[in-house]
Amino acid sequence: MARIAIVGVGAIGGALAALLSTTGKHKLTLCTRRPLPELVVQTPDGEVRVNARNWTSPAQGAPVDWVIVATKTYDAESTAAWFPGLCITGAPVAIVQNGVEHRERFTAWVRPQRLLPVVIDCPVERKSNGVVQLRGTALLNVEDSPFGRSFLDLFAGSAAQCVPTDDFQSAVWWKLCVNVVGALNALTLQPVSVLWQEPMTSVARGLVTECAAVARAEGAQLSNTIADEIINLYRCHPADSINSLLADRLAGRRMESDARNGAVVRKGLKHGIPTPLNQMAVALLENAGRKPA
Ligand SMILES: NC(=O)c1ccc[n+]([C@@H]2O[C@H](COP(=O)([O-])OP(=O)(O)OC[C@H]3O[C@@H](n4cnc5c(N)ncnc54)[C@H](OP(=O)(O)O)[C@@H]3O)[C@@H](O)[C@H]2O)c1
Repeated sequence: MARIAIVGVGAIGGALAALLSTTGKHKLTLCTRRPLPELVVQTPDGEVRVNARNWTSPAQGAPVDWVIVATKTYDAESTAAWFPGLCITGAPVAIVQNGVEHRERFTAWVRPQRLLPVVIDCPVERKSNGVVQLRGTALLNVEDSPFGRSFLDLFAGSAAQCVPTDDFQSAVWWKLCVNVVGALNALTLQPVSVLWQEPMTSVARGLVTECAAVARAEGAQLSNTIADEIINLYRCHPADSINSLLADRLAGRRMESDARNGAVVRKGLKHGIPTPLNQMAVALLENAGRKPA
């Protein structure tokens, strides 16, 4: 049994809560900004009603054994307000977010050795506050270390597919290579099929190629055909599927463009690698819909 706090209970936090709940082993706490009277997760195997307590203020925080962060990347500062209460006895913090800067994002508040980056692939969406729909298998990828394995052990007996990897750097950058392309959907306000025709395919390929060059400078092992692999991956998606950047833009929410294309630009600058397409994507997304000064 572990005492586990999940900070941020939207789509991903809800899916993780359901998976942990089905193990029947843990004491769960859901840390949210607004009250969550119940959490119901619809899964391919049926409905899961999560049995957990709910805290809505960091002032309620008490020590736990693990903290799992499932907020958006741009909410790091308000997320960190939970750490003093939850981590007072040294609880490790698993960061389940997109991008490649999991540790950098939180080292101002938690020692890097206590932070565990997690890559998640999970077809899930939040239908309303307290109702989440999980459409398939959640795949959790962490570094293959005692620390990483103790995190994955929390999910033993659940339907999560746990993948410890001895090359986490490649896994996290591969995911970013997939995600940088999503900027084109958010910019054009069109679903995945917009990537299937020229000249959009070439631009998508260019975004991935820049990201992969930076990834290799950061130590990731990526194949020389990665741009083709990712374009082919997008061709296998249903024509009308919508990625999270586009969904956020359509809903008038803030987008995670800085943690995605912005990370490529930042790391590119560090290595002297030009990333003009990703730079343009960030500039356009940050100004999309903004009223003139
Ligand atoms: N959804 C997916 O399929 C998917 C797949 C892979 C990776 N990811 C990544 O996973 C991360 C989470 O994404 P998501 O889709 O789950 O986002 P989401 O549905 O927007 O959920 C984020 C939740 O965090 C809450 N939150 C924000 N600040 C908080 C704070 N200070 N204290 C407590 N709760 C707080 C939000 O509260 P409110 O409800 O009050 O806004 C929201 O419920 C992102 O980095 C995303 O890129 C998502």
